[in-house]
Amino acid sequence: MWSMRNLLVTGGAGFIGSNFVHHVLAHTDLHVTVLDKLTYAGNLASLADLPQNRFTILEGDIADPGIVEQAMSTADAVVHYAAESHNDNSLHDPEPFLQTNIVGTYTLLEAARRHGTRFHHISTDEVYGDLPLEGTERFTEATAYNPSSPYSSTKAGSDMLVRAWVRSFGVRATISNCSNNYGPFQHVEKFIPRQITNILDGHRPKIYGEGTNVRDWIHADDHSSAVLTILDKGIIGQTYLIGADGELSNLAVVRQILVQMGHPADAFELVTDRAGHDLRYAIDSSKLRNELGWRPAFGDFDHGLEQTIEWYRSHEDWWRPQKAAAEARYAAQGQ
Ligand code: NAD
Ligand code: DAU
Repeated sequence: MWSMRNLLVTGGAGFIGSNFVHHVLAHTDLHVTVLDKLTYAGNLASLADLPQNRFTILEGDIADPGIVEQAMSTADAVVHYAAESHNDNSLHDPEPFLQTNIVGTYTLLEAARRHGTRFHHISTDEVYGDLPLEGTERFTEATAYNPSSPYSSTKAGSDMLVRAWVRSFGVRATISNCSNNYGPFQHVEKFIPRQITNILDGHRPKIYGEGTNVRDWIHADDHSSAVLTILDKGIIGQTYLIGADGELSNLAVVRQILVQMGHPADAFELVTDRAGHDLRYAIDSSKLRNELGWRPAFGDFDHGLEQTIEWYRSHEDWWRPQKAAAEARYAAQGQ
């Protein structure tokens, strides 16, 4: 990997992509090109404090073969984050998910195939569907695909395209499927930032259903270090699950946020549940840890959450412009 000079990062203005760009610039000498359509979820302010001579921004659609060709022609490797990423949105308007997550990934793979570019595909644990609430079973690389939502089914489809392009055309690709990320620069439509910013605005956090659903939380910076490890040492054609043993129910997370922000732990509201709401995700990341030697740095969720709350407290200028539109979408859905 260290013979690489130019890294193309799709979706680098989004939540995890921008955290990855921060991580790469801090830990390597690579030059980064960000290819991003700057949808409602893309925000150049997330890259504003970085050394501007270390990266280039190309505004464009990953489903546009012209801009993808231009971006790929100078890249030694691509890390592909760009996606429509929010389950709730996919339930109300699935079309952009098919276009970006499937056609966009196809367009990138074709360009990587022409140029022989190393390709790392970012995916999600949601491709595996969900696990029973009771029990200790966890997802592994051998778990069968069983996606539930339009979002997760398009991510599953994109994973399958990558596998086929490796086998049929020899594209040098790896895939990672990660659990729920938290940290700075996450759009306020997502669970943790929505609740923090609701509290900052004097509103109660909103929990879907009974709040018993479980997610497996990992700090976005740990996701970034795992991806860099796979880019460096991963075996072509292989899939790696990324997780940090962070299983918590939504109720537990909201109570922790409330207490850390100085409110009673029960000052939340239960609202309409998500259709088809996955019950529980849990990742077994032994393969990544044992074969590639990766370890998460943010072992302690409480501490990571505290830092994240502090980040939203001190970055209202970053999140305020998103808040009203996100809440209007939720209000229309009774959430
Ligand atoms: P996000 O919604 O915050 O960011 C997505 C980015 O992609 C935005 O900058 C957006 O402008 C860009 N984008 C969207 N459509 C595009 C297009 N057609 N062309 C170019 N750019 C486009 O998403 P995120 O939460 O940062 O997720 C990033 C990736 O990580 C996704 O592939 C997602 O499936 C995956 N993932 C997310 C999580 C999570 O917890 N958020 C967990 C595992 C995997
Ligand atoms: O598991 C990885 C996935 O994690 C990624 O692939 C997705 O891109 C990412 O958005 C995330 O999906 P979730 O649907 O799990 O995340 P979300 O933040 O939307 O919701 C987390 C949990 O909180 C889920 O059980 C729904 C619940 N929820 C969410 C919101 C926004 C609430 O109870 N209240 C809310 O207001």
